[in-house]
Amino acid sequence: PFYKAMFGLSELEEKIRKHFGLKQVVIVSGDSDESPATGRELGRAGCSVLRKDMKANDVIAVTGGSTLAQVANQLTSQTPLRSNLFVPARGGLGESLDYQANTIASTMAKRTGAQYRMLHVPDHLGEEAYNSLMQEPNVREIVEVIREARIVVHGIGDAMVMARRRRVDAAVVEAMKAEGALAESFGYYFDRHGEVVHKMLTAGLRLEDIMETEVVIAIAGGRSKGEAIAAVMRFGHDDVLVTDEAAALEIAAII
Ligand code: BG6
Repeated sequence: PFYKAMFGLSELEEKIRKHFGLKQVVIVSGDSDESPATGRELGRAGCSVLRKDMKANDVIAVTGGSTLAQVANQLTSQTPLRSNLFVPARGGLGESLDYQANTIASTMAKRTGAQYRMLHVPDHLGEEAYNSLMQEPNVREIVEVIREARIVVHGIGDAMVMARRRRVDAAVVEAMKAEGALAESFGYYFDRHGEVVHKMLTAGLRLEDIMETEVVIAIAGGRSKGEAIAAVMRFGHDDVLVTDEAAALEIAAII
């Protein structure tokens, strides 16, 4: 495309990095909406960023999704990362098994010789269910570990696509639409300014935990996700963005 020919991907990386005040932006060429090979490249790029940021004894919380599955399926380590612990960022979000955060965390751990812990509770809970679950010592303990993760790795989705995929209630979807929901990430929905629309109680990472996480890595690509990625970057708590050229061009066009 014109932009790439004119400026190259590294200029595009720098433009997006500066605009959102990120530490690092990595762009792989292509469009993962169109090309499975680009999707795999995105996953590989995610792996290198994560491996570079990981230190001994780190707890790494990961979300689910097909993009994170691409990362998990390609993650390797030359020496077993015995002191590292992978955990799901959130509880079950009504995703198919392959895309659940629990699955992603265990795959990453098994492939790198690290450890993992699971969180076997539904993500969105009513107040009563939340309070009683949090009284279970086993649940409370793992939730505390998750909320103290040093690294969070997450995907980003289009709000309506994700709401449909998770079979969110029609009434809730309508309410979110009315509030301008555009993007979804770690179970939260955001409008174009990066403001959270629609909050709920969750057993897992909350917004306030993400705000304090040392290293937050977003991995998402495909032209259709450009606006959603920009919205989550405006929320402003990511450190690293790994994306593809098609999404990056969309982002560059609106910033
Ligand atoms: C979810 C994550 O599982 O995957 C979200 O919790 C993300 O943070 C979504 O928005 C993206 O899914 P995919 O399949 O498009 O990578």
